[in-house]
Amino acid sequence: MSDKPVLTTTAGAPISDNQNSLSAGPRGPLLMEDYQLFEKLAHQNRERIPERVVHAKGWGAHGTLTITNDITRYSKAKLFAEVGKKTEMLARFSTVAGEQGAADAERDVRGFALKFYTEEGNWDLVGNNTPVFFIRDGYKFPDFIHTQKRHPKTNLRSATAMWDFWSLSPESLHQVTILMSDRGLPPSPRFMNGYGSHTYSMINADNERFWVKFHFKTMQGHKFLTNEEAAQVVGSSRESYQEDLFGAIEAGDYPKWRMCIQVMPEADAEKTPYNPFDLTKVWPHGDYPLIEVGIMELNRNPENYFAEIEQAAFSPSNKVPGIGFSPDKMLQARVFSYADAHRYRLGTHYEALPVNRPKCPVHHYHKDGSMNFFGQQTGNVDAYYEPNSMNGAAEDPAYAEPPLAISGDAERYNHRDGNDDYVQVRALFNLFDEGQKSRLFSNTAAAMQGVPQAIIDRQLGHLDKVDKAYGDGVRAALAAAAGARDAAE
Ligand code: NDP
Ligand code: HEM
Repeated sequence: MSDKPVLTTTAGAPISDNQNSLSAGPRGPLLMEDYQLFEKLAHQNRERIPERVVHAKGWGAHGTLTITNDITRYSKAKLFAEVGKKTEMLARFSTVAGEQGAADAERDVRGFALKFYTEEGNWDLVGNNTPVFFIRDGYKFPDFIHTQKRHPKTNLRSATAMWDFWSLSPESLHQVTILMSDRGLPPSPRFMNGYGSHTYSMINADNERFWVKFHFKTMQGHKFLTNEEAAQVVGSSRESYQEDLFGAIEAGDYPKWRMCIQVMPEADAEKTPYNPFDLTKVWPHGDYPLIEVGIMELNRNPENYFAEIEQAAFSPSNKVPGIGFSPDKMLQARVFSYADAHRYRLGTHYEALPVNRPKCPVHHYHKDGSMNFFGQQTGNVDAYYEPNSMNGAAEDPAYAEPPLAISGDAERYNHRDGNDDYVQVRALFNLFDEGQKSRLFSNTAAAMQGVPQAIIDRQLGHLDKVDKAYGDGVRAALAAAAGARDAAE
């Protein structure tokens, strides 16, 4: 007898031989009754689950949020209840376009998804490392994502599709400029900010509503890779983010972010020169300064990547009392999309998986369903409908949000009407020093390689509207790249 645990079937019976299948004679064919052989092969065939339709490549870790500043005047959410309070959380970072095996150091927006296990349910903030997005209406999300994924015939990524869509969708310019700037290629998630990006709401104990934006400022400082450096990194390791994040946490060098909010009184939303619910716009810090909330620290690597990161299900629909939605059309579309994706990708009871399971009591009347291992969670075995007389779980009106005044005729409003897609991009462009501008020009030109001239010209027209120096800078970089290609031929 060895001191190793005995290998068993999934039904718990000890296995005598895990090396040799059961055959008729030493050279003979296999016997149908070798159930364990078929069990192993069948399980292997089921090891893969669908990868996320976007943000398939990711890296994650567990951590804590510690509150450093009292924001209870804005939100009654339990995780903000007092200075010093710690809440357990999970983070998953990702690239958007690449598949599960994509190289880490590729130019792309990075996902910044957070799950906070609060006493009143899980709060998920599913953001990016950018404060804005490419589109402002979720109706366009599948079209946009098709341009980021593979061409149906060539099965290659298509720069033509990307610039065609972007140049026909000027609201994308803010995000495209960030993507082509230094922030578009951090060397690891440790060196980038996170943003909730959308406008959310906070509700305080007096049931007053505030509009809010969330920011997570890296305390490691910003770093970036040039395209050339990234090519070298990818040439030596396709897993540079996993190595860096996992390695830093394993070595006790825990990455931290300063969580901040911008707060807008509810009535201000009528007065701002921009639509505060437009995801292609930021709220200027001068108008709405950052207010510190706490420190987020990642300090525990997953024991099992698949169970804790691949099976993690982050959804903007997961909100808790004291934090709410806003009229942002993109956010509204996302409230539907994620839970639907999770039911498909992970199964009906994905919220009951250990990594998604709230660390507070859960009561609902959903019944049965595949892989239901928890029976029912209604609070009483006889209560399987509601209302009931068995003291099963019941609603509590104390959690109602204050009413939100909404008006207007039902219509498909043109989201481009009255929207200036250039003014905030100009503010960003003016922040860049000469080196940052020069890399913005050359990164843009590099990404345009092989794109038909008419599409490039349409995009240059948008850049000129931001600043003639932006358009001219990219023109010069395109000419330099073409000259270098000619010389090489
Ligand atoms: P501020 O000067 O107060 O803020 C500028 C912001 O730009 C900082 O948050 C800074 O982030 C960030 N930043 C610096 N370099 C880059 C880059 N390459 N890509 C993206 N962000 C960068 O000005 P305003 O608040 O008036 O905003 C001016 C412009 O700055 C905006 O139009 C927007 O493009 C950009 N910005 C604004 C943010 C906001 O919430 N107001 C957030 C992020 C960007 P950090 O402090 O972490 O270095
Ligand atoms: C992942 C839809 C916009 C950030 C996903 C997934 C879907 C999706 C279906 C896969 C979910 C899963 O399988 O777990 C959409 C739709 C959008 C939209 C329909 C627009 C209407 C955005 C925006 C952001 C964002 C604006 C950021 C501000 C993310 C992140 C992930 C993700 C970070 C990965 C989450 C994880 O790590 O598991 N999105 N998305 N998405 N999305 Fe979006």
